[in-house]
Amino acid sequence: MKIMTVVGARPQFIKAAALSRVLRREHTEILVHTGQHYDANMSDIFFEEMEIPRPDYHLGISGGSHGEMTGRMLMELEKVAQRENPDALLVYGDTNSTMAAALAAVKLHIPVIHVEAGNRLGTLDNPEEVNRIVTDHVSRLLFCATEDARQKLVREGLGDRAHVVGNIMYDSFLHFADKPWEPRILDHEGRPVPVPAEFYYMTCHRQENAGSDEPLTEILHAMNSLDAPTIYAVHPRNRERALRIRERDGLDNILLTQPVGYSDSVHLTQHAKKIVTDSGGLQCEAFYAGVQCVFILDYVVWPETMVGNRNQLAKPDRADILRKLSAEQTVDPAYRPFGDGHTAEKICDVLREVKL
Ligand code: UD1
Ligand code: UDP
Repeated sequence: MKIMTVVGARPQFIKAAALSRVLRREHTEILVHTGQHYDANMSDIFFEEMEIPRPDYHLGISGGSHGEMTGRMLMELEKVAQRENPDALLVYGDTNSTMAAALAAVKLHIPVIHVEAGNRLGTLDNPEEVNRIVTDHVSRLLFCATEDARQKLVREGLGDRAHVVGNIMYDSFLHFADKPWEPRILDHEGRPVPVPAEFYYMTCHRQENAGSDEPLTEILHAMNSLDAPTIYAVHPRNRERALRIRERDGLDNILLTQPVGYSDSVHLTQHAKKIVTDSGGLQCEAFYAGVQCVFILDYVVWPETMVGNRNQLAKPDRADILRKLSAEQTVDPAYRPFGDGHTAEKICDVLREVKL
């Protein structure tokens, strides 16, 4: 088949790295980068380090309101899809790039394949939830990371299109985990940051937590009071805010860094004492690594991780975060809900069997 894959944001590059490699053994892939993430350390670094094929199209669309960004992507992706006329269009996850591509394709009667289908938070206040629901409902083929995700699709009448294949991010994680590590972590001014012997690893970029001073201040104060420094890899959208709060409140136990490459992120995860994040992907990686995680959001994204205190929800509240960080974890090491790290092969098996 000729498959047009659309990516645009950091987690999608990481997912594409695992699937493109395997997909291209049997299919022709046209790779389109919408441009949603564009800084070198949010985009190029992943293409280079993870040997992702060079995009055939780069649309250069980023920023603006959700509607504006999605609308511009929809217009340009429609043109590319018309020109390429693929047999299918493949998208990952839940970003604006995902939904724009799915809508462009379905209107042209191009079958849509959604990888990481069926996740639900249960609230339309979360912008990604809208993208997930719309994408799932216009897709022909739904690849779920877990049985729980498939059950959610069954409840929405989409069970006949759904296949459980494991988490594609687990494939990428295993590819980089336990390899020799040469850290290339830079502070906000581009100076190398030595990795402390003991540290906590944090990412935090969601609107709910980093879109105003109050929640981010609570989170940073909690981390600053811990028994080891926190490496906070800051998303560009909240760089200025994080820097200002750290300077204002003298939070010297926090190391603010630029976004790091994937290999660094995997190794920081494996070596951290604990992880604090609002990232969907990083909480799963913490789970794979057996490292305890505190997830700062009101909603569960990956219910499979919420066992034995391995992953716990916390409010952006100092006391709540510290309470959750002090809990002991009790998880059976044999519990592996995310597949075996061969999700890419499983997706290709299904593509061979089904008629789109
Ligand atoms: C998006 C996804 C979110 C995902 C995150 C992954 C949507 C609705 N949300 O959120 O699900 O968790 O990506 O990282 O698609 N910016 C830069 N440089 C970049 C990228 C972004 O400066 O390379 C700044 C821009 O000012 C931009 C802002 O960050 O306006 C927000 O970026 P955007 O892509 O809109 O959303 P994310 O918060 O990254
Ligand atoms: N990640 C990374 N560098 C960073 C922060 C995160 O490589 O500085 C990786 C992280 O290991 C995970 C993915 O990016 O694999 C998560 O992406 P993000 O948090 O941007 O999106 P989300 O998971 O919330 O969709």
